[in-house]
Amino acid sequence: MKSDSDIETHLDPERLPAHVGIIMDGNGRWAKKRLLKRTKGHERGSQAVRSIVTAATRLGIRTVTLYAFSTENWARPKAEIKALMVLLKKYIISERDAFNEHGIRLNVIGQKERLPEDVLRELDTSIKLTQHNDRILLNLALSYGAREEITRAVQAISVKFKNRELDLSDITSDLISDHLYTQGIPDPDLIIRTSGEYRLSNFLLWQAAYSEIYISPTLWPDFTENEFIEILKDFQNRDRRFGKV
Ligand code: FPP
Repeated sequence: MKSDSDIETHLDPERLPAHVGIIMDGNGRWAKKRLLKRTKGHERGSQAVRSIVTAATRLGIRTVTLYAFSTENWARPKAEIKALMVLLKKYIISERDAFNEHGIRLNVIGQKERLPEDVLRELDTSIKLTQHNDRILLNLALSYGAREEITRAVQAISVKFKNRELDLSDITSDLISDHLYTQGIPDPDLIIRTSGEYRLSNFLLWQAAYSEIYISPTLWPDFTENEFIEILKDFQNRDRRFGKV
């Protein structure tokens, strides 16, 4: 079996993606295949979150954004939403020390205000406790949907325009970026989606304009550090032209 250092040998630390977004898909199918409840899949999925965040930090990636709960996920059965929120809260609390030990700064993108009060409280505590960490930024996309994010930005910009704080010519692509949840965060260089689905599912639609996309057939609970590193190597072999020749 290859060790971590063998696998990492061909990874160029100078050409790592600065920001990796991950659509963690396939928890339900992972559980179904084993005749388990969907929530078991989410439970194993949160273990995969731990290992990928640890790997990204060790490798020197500066930002990771995980799609943990979409605006559309509110339409799932109440019991599944509850189970996801419980797992999320557990994760935030159990990782607090590790976040500080490894320099991980926690941030949330999405409609934070829609989250249950207890989850929100723990999130805010962790965000505050990790605010000075600067090795990696971990964005959890929670109650996140790109169309909602863009709508909200348009509304905020319209109010400023109406109040004459902005002229029409001030409304640029950069200004729009500055009104998104990801304000100040570079666009993702790489977006990984697990479970073999070829969709962005309302994830970072504005920010993904020039992202490299990688679709892995692996169901999220089975996603490993080694596969993550192989995907980073694939990214390093791509020719990114940003619309130029
Ligand atoms: C998609 O699988 C996954 C989700 C909707 C939630 C992702 C949540 C986790 C990985 C666990 C908790 C998160 C953290 C940050 C600790 P699916 O249920 O849509 O799978 P399916 O498409 O196979 O049904």
